[in-house]
Amino acid sequence: MSEWFETTDGLWAALWDALRDGVADARHPARRPTFATVSPDGWPEARTVVLRTADAQAAALTVHTDLQSDKIKSLQANPRGALHVWVPEKDLQIRLQGHVAIASGDAIRPLWAEIPDHAQQSYGVIPAPGTPIPEALDYVKAPDPATFAVLNCAVTQVDLVHLGKDHRRAQFSRVRHWQGQWLSP
Ligand SMILES: Cc1cc2nc3c(=O)[nH]c(=O)nc-3n(C[C@H](O)[C@H](O)[C@H](O)COP(=O)(O)O)c2cc1C
Repeated sequence: MSEWFETTDGLWAALWDALRDGVADARHPARRPTFATVSPDGWPEARTVVLRTADAQAAALTVHTDLQSDKIKSLQANPRGALHVWVPEKDLQIRLQGHVAIASGDAIRPLWAEIPDHAQQSYGVIPAPGTPIPEALDYVKAPDPATFAVLNCAVTQVDLVHLGKDHRRAQFSRVRHWQGQWLSP
C-alpha cells in the first residue's frame, strides 16, 4: 500500500481535499491562500484572500472581492491569476494558475443576500480601496452589493511539491486532462 504522496493520483486527491478543507475550516491553511495577479504595467502582485469555493470536478475556485480594488483593474487587463498555499501538516506546496472571470451585479445578487452582515463589511469602502487618505482611519465601511464581485478561477495548471524524506513534484494541466506528470523538484 503506497502513501498518498507516492502517486500523482494521490497528490491530486490531496490537493482537492486540502482546498475543500480550506473552504470548510477557517483554521485550515488553505482558507487564506495568496492570490497573485499581474498589474496593468506588468508587475507581479500578491495578496491574501479567503477561499470561498473549490470544485474538484470543474477544477474551479472562487474568491470574493471589492469591485473597486486594484486587483480588478489587473484582471481586466490580464485575466490570469495564481494561487499559492503551503499546507504544513501535509508538507505540501500548492501552486495553481488559471483564467479568472469577474462576476458582479444582478448575477451575484442572491449570493450577496446570503453573506452575513459582518462579512459584507469587506465589500465597499469610501474612498475606494487604495485611495490615498490623510489619516489612517479617514475612510468609512459602506457595504454595497454594487461593489461586490466574485472571482471565478478556472484552473489551467497545478504544481504540487511534497517535502517529505524525499522531495516529489508533480504537474497537472487541464489540456492533459489532469494526468499527473512528475517533475524534478
Ligand atoms: C486574512 C486576510 C484575508 C483577506 N481576504 C480577502 C478576500 O477574500 N478578498 C479580498 O479582495 N481581499 C482580501 N483581503 C485583503 C487583501 O489581502 C488586499 O489587501 C486587498 O484585497 C487589496 O488588494 P489589491 O489592492 O491588490 O486589490 C484579505 C486580507 C487578509 C489579511
